[in-house]
Amino acid sequence: MLILGIESSCDETAAAVMRDDQQLLANVVDSQIAIHAEYGGVVPEIASRKHLENIYPVVTKALADARVGLDDIDLLAVTAGPGLIGSLLVGLNFVKALALIKKIPFVGVDHMAGHLLSVYLGEAPPQFPFVALIASGGHSSLFHVRDFHDLTLLGRTRDDAAGEAFDKVAKLLDLPYPGGPEIGRISREGNPQAITFPRSWLEPGSYDFSFSGLKTSVANQVNKMKKGTLPLPVADISASFQEAVVDVLTQKSIRAAQEMGCKTVVVAGGVAANSRLREMMTLECDKAGLELAMPPVSFCTDNAAMICVAGFHQYQQMAGSPLDLDVYSRSPHLMQG
Ligand code: KG4
Ligand code: ZN
Repeated sequence: MLILGIESSCDETAAAVMRDDQQLLANVVDSQIAIHAEYGGVVPEIASRKHLENIYPVVTKALADARVGLDDIDLLAVTAGPGLIGSLLVGLNFVKALALIKKIPFVGVDHMAGHLLSVYLGEAPPQFPFVALIASGGHSSLFHVRDFHDLTLLGRTRDDAAGEAFDKVAKLLDLPYPGGPEIGRISREGNPQAITFPRSWLEPGSYDFSFSGLKTSVANQVNKMKKGTLPLPVADISASFQEAVVDVLTQKSIRAAQEMGCKTVVVAGGVAANSRLREMMTLECDKAGLELAMPPVSFCTDNAAMICVAGFHQYQQMAGSPLDLDVYSRSPHLMQG
């Protein structure tokens, strides 16, 4: 079986071709970062127009890279939500048109399910059950995963998502968009112990996250330091902020795995590209005697290979989606957070 996956939920137009044994034949990601960077964040109207321009060439390139034609495709998988409505509509309608003309079944996939299953693109896929942390620009969620379609949401962010906190703090420090990778880079030159920023553990036993207090604390610190005569210690502030986020993400994930009786922790989503998070997760899981599974860095941020994996499993479990399937901006049920 050959799967063509398409992702257009935010600022990446992506297409991938995968065999059902998870062998990836093509993986094309066209990022709009350079366009949105000028505005300091994603402009939804520009994003959807760019998806419209990009989707045909991106899909054509994916098919060419895989050396296959549309007639070879057995299943179409596309992100149906959560994300920007105008952007999602471009991907979904493109796929519906292909499905209709070529009479290929299609599935509308949840973007979060895609991030979660991106771990199967790595070399050491996890064994069920496991606890999964999905940390991206829009979500910071912890799931107890017993099987591909048997999972429980344990906790979610109550305010800013982890990636959103990275992006907002980067803005405070006048670093370019997207802030996450910039903070990750600059933190390598800073001292993570320079400033002790607050860790929001919330009430005992809670698996929820909250990063807005941390962001405010960084803002207060930056304002105070800007009044002084010394240059702003951007690397130290970045490293100290990053340490606070990574500390909470790591400790809550490990506690969840222990309390759920799971031997494995999975970490995915854009923030899983952060090298300090990968390092601390590796160290702490090792100490706790837990296995750790993370997708390769290139599959942490948005891509269509993860949509192929999620689409394939969804199609095996359920039928294809109907042609009147709609997009959604927020996850309606289990995958919310
Ligand atoms: O999963 P993703 O590509 O898109 C969403 O579904 O949101 O995640 C993007 C988020 C952004 O907030 C970005 O700043 C963050 O992931 N991110 C990082 C890193 N790379 C991307 N955050 C911290 N360190 C990184 N290296
Ligand atoms: Zn994403």
